[in-house]
Amino acid sequence: MQPASEHHSQGGARLPRHVAIVMDGNGRWAKRRFMPRIFGHKHGVDALVRVVQACADRGIEYLTVFAFSSENWKRPSDEVSGLMNLVLVAVSKYLAKLQKEGVRIHIVGDRTAVSERVRAAWQQVETATAHNRRITLSVAFNYGGRWDIVQACRRALALGLHPEELDEARLNQLMALSHAPDPDLFIRTGGEMRISNFLLWQAAYSELVFSDCLWPEFGEAELDAALQAYAARERRFGGVPDAAPQALRA
Ligand code: IPE
Ligand code: IPE
Ligand code: MG
Repeated sequence: MQPASEHHSQGGARLPRHVAIVMDGNGRWAKRRFMPRIFGHKHGVDALVRVVQACADRGIEYLTVFAFSSENWKRPSDEVSGLMNLVLVAVSKYLAKLQKEGVRIHIVGDRTAVSERVRAAWQQVETATAHNRRITLSVAFNYGGRWDIVQACRRALALGLHPEELDEARLNQLMALSHAPDPDLFIRTGGEMRISNFLLWQAAYSELVFSDCLWPEFGEAELDAALQAYAARERRFGGVPDAAPQALRA
């Protein structure tokens, strides 16, 4: 784990360095419009592109989004194949725009289970944006928090690490989000108040914000509301509020 993020000031407010989002509610949004679930997912991609832009504009350095969970394979096969196809559509529609805006993209998750075409698209996205520095977008796809912990342990074993060599910092270096500090703010849209196997390790001290907004409708106003809620939180990391260092106390 990297040390707790420093807050930096923008317009006087404390701004998170790293925001993580469970983009939930696409299916219900579509259902309300008497449309198939995939229609909601398509609009969800548009919402994501808007939110990436809004985060970059506000000076957020890292955005990590949950796009497809290890458990989402349980969905009807037409929805799963629709989502896989949407990856290809989204890349051809938006890669040039994101590239131009200075977005660096990492894909995190188990790639072994996805098709060769999707793997190639991920590779293309990562290569094309590797030199961008304005904001780092990590897209969690076929990702699960438990998968991440297990894959990191496997890598530790494969490296032949001795038990004494493995500590929290070393294991963190082997986790899928080792390129980013821990998320400061964890948002879930769609009204459910659960983690659903997202960043189990990294979200140990994230501030949680739940929004009833369905993901396709999430925009600047909802982002700003979450940022405002975050700015009002007191982060303690297990300590005592406003405590003077031990030596200074009587
Ligand atoms: C989240 O929206 C997107 C994915 C899981 C791919 P859902 O599809 O879960 O939408 P709801 O929760 O059914 O409304
Ligand atoms: C979490 O949403 C996964 C993504 C947003 C990609 P789900 O809709 O799959 O979560 P549950 O099933 O409500 O817990
Ligand atoms: Mg859902």
